Amino acid sequence: MARKKVLLSRIFPKLATQLLEEAGCEVIAWDKEQPMSYEELTSKAKNCDALFCTLTDKIDSTFLNACSHLDIITQFAVGYDNIAIEVATKLGIPVGYAPNAMNEATADIAFGLMIATARKMFFMNQKIKDGKWGSFDPVGHLGLELKGKTLGILGLGRIGMVMAKKCKGAYDMKILYHNRNSNPEAESELGATWVDFETLVAESDVISAHCALTPETKDIFNKSAFDKMKPTSLFINTARGAVHNETDLINALKKGSIWGAGLDVTNPEPMKPDNPLLTMENVCVLPHIGSATITARNEMARMGATNIISFYKQGTVPYIVNLEVL
Ligand code: DGY
Repeated sequence: MARKKVLLSRIFPKLATQLLEEAGCEVIAWDKEQPMSYEELTSKAKNCDALFCTLTDKIDSTFLNACSHLDIITQFAVGYDNIAIEVATKLGIPVGYAPNAMNEATADIAFGLMIATARKMFFMNQKIKDGKWGSFDPVGHLGLELKGKTLGILGLGRIGMVMAKKCKGAYDMKILYHNRNSNPEAESELGATWVDFETLVAESDVISAHCALTPETKDIFNKSAFDKMKPTSLFINTARGAVHNETDLINALKKGSIWGAGLDVTNPEPMKPDNPLLTMENVCVLPHIGSATITARNEMARMGATNIISFYKQGTVPYIVNLEVL
């Protein structure tokens, strides 16, 4: 393979550089913890053949038109809402991504947030740090139990399926889901039932978002959805912050239209430290760490590097979003 210049937009696991260099690529890697600016990314990408980027990079139509020479773009994530896919497709640029790499890791965070929220864990831990651990309190800060409850999943795909299995196994939860298409595997393996979105929010005790961010799912958890939920329900979001409307979520929690919320994703990210959600008793927030395990991140690095290498060696992209380009 002729020596191709690959730009890595962030500090990715070393495996990415190792695989690309072994395959004969020249790797140009950003070496600072914070992402580079849009302008820096554009100017660096102009001098490279391939781009390995992630969700903090804005790969919009202006960027793509300025860098239409790129042979391939691959995303260090399963979600790719930061990339104008239809523009890349028109320009003939294949876009790769990392499906399945973080199924277990992200479902663990959803499952963990569900329990942490149900038992107010983050708030109670903060009380200790604030020196407010009084005596054992027979009636204080009581939480919820999950055994036999109903889990409602929006977007029962790869990650949602792992979350559903965990909830079924641990708590024998009944599974409802809402997807564009039905999921026969979930129906036969877990007895999951497809319902419309209104039924999903009205009948679930735990609602967990695992959908992609699209024009249809943006703000789907808004006042109207929260108003339909049970006052004892938990809202868990490990998908994208923009699928919930933050003002409506805060109001729903204040009014008691829902009981609690566990969020690994916020809108915007990073969340400001004075955000009211951070001091609410029934809310647990994490800084988008769904895929942050050694196993998942290495797999994401391997998939991205493999996409680039096999594009140059065989003209194929094994994990591709816009197959029509090839
Ligand atoms: C993804 O993969 O889309 C996560 O949000 C980051 O790993």
